[in-house]
Amino acid sequence: MRRRFVRALARPLALAATAVAIPLLSAAPAASDVVLGGYPVEAAQNPWTVALSSRDRFGRMRSGQFCGGVVVDPTTVLTAAHCMAEDVLGAPPDRARDLKVITGRTDLYTDEGREIAVRETWVNPAYDSGTNAGDFAVLTLAEPLPRTSAIGLAGPGDAAYRPGTEAVITGWGDTTGFGAYPRRLRAAHVHVLADALCERAYPGSADGKYLSASMVCAGDERGGRDACQGDSGGPLIAQGRLIGLVSWGSGCGRPESPGVYTRVSEIVRTLGRGRTPQGAGKTP
Ligand code: ARG
Repeated sequence: MRRRFVRALARPLALAATAVAIPLLSAAPAASDVVLGGYPVEAAQNPWTVALSSRDRFGRMRSGQFCGGVVVDPTTVLTAAHCMAEDVLGAPPDRARDLKVITGRTDLYTDEGREIAVRETWVNPAYDSGTNAGDFAVLTLAEPLPRTSAIGLAGPGDAAYRPGTEAVITGWGDTTGFGAYPRRLRAAHVHVLADALCERAYPGSADGKYLSASMVCAGDERGGRDACQGDSGGPLIAQGRLIGLVSWGSGCGRPESPGVYTRVSEIVRTLGRGRTPQGAGKTP
């Protein structure tokens, strides 16, 4: 149950059970009051951060938000493969008819910004839900966003992957680890952490297995600052470039369990090798 938190998001009752189960299972759950470690930010200042929405599945209140995404090209949004899973969307992504990308909406209780239909979804066929390797999907938008909304991608060997590099995460996810979903977009500062830290934390369990070739380890060595449920698919940005997508972790904000992100340089490598999604036209 702890593995697929986004599943829990789909089912409020399961979510409640998760919130109760975690403190019982782990001796020292996050006592941090703000997992995202966060502070409020404006969507206009983070135009590459978008919300994925399905009101059919997640209700109208928070604009149907259930995951994050990142604009990497006027018609291309990257998100996590696990956000497109059938048990999340209630259908295969190509049949999830009310799937939308929301941009420019800081406060999910409003109708500011734009909602754009998804014309096509491409889920990485190599995504492994056992380890969580390859956790990315490509959404093609029905209408283009301004080019200025897109963020550049870190390629293989990018210096921003050096451990210790400052990075920022943004999202509308849980701010406590116990199911407190905010109205407004938040950000938190984290650091890229050494692969060895995540390899030690995640040698392979029901949560996943840390594989440095396709994942990035980031967080706060003292805990507290982290992504959490509902942030998945959203950006991890360092030196002005996208280096990761929020993917998984054990609990949220626990010092011994850093956040694990999909390694964007590996997405670039994969898509650049000719597995460009059909219809996406170009490699993001
Ligand atoms: N899987 C979660 C989601 O679907 C993201 C979890 C990230 N967890 C973490 N501790 N960084 O929203």
